[in-house]
Amino acid sequence: MTIYSEVRQAIRPAHAHDLATLLRSRRSVRQYQVRPVERILLEQMLEAARWAPSPHGRQPWRFVVLTRQEPKHLLAEHMGETWRHNLQMDGQEAEIVERRLQKSRQRILGAPAIIIACLYMADMDRYPDEKRQADEITMAIQSIGAAIQNMLLMAYDLGLDTGWMCAPLFCPEVVCEVLDLDKRLMPQALITVGYAAADPQRRERLPLSSLVVRFD
Ligand SMILES: Cc1cc2nc3c(=O)[nH]c(=O)nc-3n(C[C@H](O)[C@H](O)[C@H](O)COP(=O)(O)O)c2cc1C
Repeated sequence: MTIYSEVRQAIRPAHAHDLATLLRSRRSVRQYQVRPVERILLEQMLEAARWAPSPHGRQPWRFVVLTRQEPKHLLAEHMGETWRHNLQMDGQEAEIVERRLQKSRQRILGAPAIIIACLYMADMDRYPDEKRQADEITMAIQSIGAAIQNMLLMAYDLGLDTGWMCAPLFCPEVVCEVLDLDKRLMPQALITVGYAAADPQRRERLPLSSLVVRFD
């Protein structure tokens, strides 16, 4: 038995016993306990991401992990400024803007760990025409979604909880600047990780009959 599986078994609360139950049990968490997340568990999540399918097998993803308050604080403040600008542009009332910003800041600072999933196109194919180039990017983004889902499910299996925030997508250059990242990285999503403060309600899903448009 590896050290990983020993630790995992020691702290795993057995949220789910099989894959189908695991898939249905995971849910987004937006408030966490103060309890820190063990590094080894974060590594297990990243390891799960590594095994996602990707176009040409090129793995167009890189991950940033933050557990210290200072960089999280910087990130929350700077991303918040972009969001403030966008909300003001939408004509939202000042009070509502402040409330939403405060909530978002709180979600980032209140999460014991954060994983930012970034698109990395350097190893992908390049095309002279816009259409195929755009398709190549789409494929890479699709595969990042698969890598993130692997992380979310692994986290849940390890007894952790997660929440997906799209904020970095709207200000990738701000995230790179603040965290001093390689400019070729394109931050796509921010995943909060921790132990849920409470057990949120599972959201309903559309019935399969309305999703499958053809099944011959
Ligand atoms: C691409 C993507 C972006 C999302 N962005 C946010 C977000 O910015 N804030 C948020 O609270 N939830 C966000 N979510 C989480 C969804 O709201 C959530 O997954 C959905 O409502 C279903 O709930 P569940 O995850 O609890 O099953 C995002 C999910 C995805 C897949």
